[in-house]
Amino acid sequence: MSNAVTSRISISTLAAKKKAGQRWAMLTCYEQMTAAIFDAADIDVLLVGDSAGNNFLGEENTIPVTVDELIPMARAVVKSSQKSMVVGDLPFGSYESSAEQALATGIRFFKEAKVQAVKLEGGAKVVPQIEKLIAAGIPVMGHLGLTPQSVHALGGFKVQGRGDDAERIKADARALQKAGVFAIVLELIPAQLAAEITAELSIPTIGIGAGVNCDAQVLVWTDLMGITENAPKLAKAYRNLRKEMTDAAKEFAADVAAGRFPTEEQSFK
Ligand code: KIV
Repeated sequence: MSNAVTSRISISTLAAKKKAGQRWAMLTCYEQMTAAIFDAADIDVLLVGDSAGNNFLGEENTIPVTVDELIPMARAVVKSSQKSMVVGDLPFGSYESSAEQALATGIRFFKEAKVQAVKLEGGAKVVPQIEKLIAAGIPVMGHLGLTPQSVHALGGFKVQGRGDDAERIKADARALQKAGVFAIVLELIPAQLAAEITAELSIPTIGIGAGVNCDAQVLVWTDLMGITENAPKLAKAYRNLRKEMTDAAKEFAADVAAGRFPTEEQSFK
């Protein structure tokens, strides 16, 4: 019996794209249908983000999301994709205490969900965690700027890195690259600062609300598809699936009420 062999985007593919100046896209993904669709659409990286909290689990923000909630989602995304790299987000409370805690969480994502990498939020203060994960063979994606797990400490969803604060973010980006991360998400920072970090680093930057000069861009998939109500300014809705889905649900209910569904076509002899 042979196991199915898949060839996924790897950290080397992404490093080569940076060298070649090729831009690429990442989308969040929380379950099997969108995983199969985005994989077939050649999205390089699927992020099983803790944004599942406010896009899938009905929470106000990402903070309440647990490892036990994210792992089955990540497993479904891995099982339903073949080419995309799948990255599991380490949720709040699953890595801050120590490098050992981060490793234990990373191992769960690797063994139980079979993701190819993990992401965590923060700069120099999470370097021990990053080093521990990488030493164990777990590739790590960093996340700087507006880090939603720290939304209360940051005083809300505000642009980070303006004025003197830019140097702090640059220093964190350098620290993460030195620690060995293979890419860094830059969220909600001035476009000029993101451009400078992107030009300085040898690893890819992935922007979200960070201007066009990052090496890659990420969006929350429900924002991209126009499902999210009151999507943030940093997002662009490429479709209006909220309207499409509402219309379809209303049409279905009206057809049921009028006896128009099911027809012969959906009935059995
Ligand atoms: O969880 C998430 O969706 C993220 C992206 C916004 C990068 O961290």
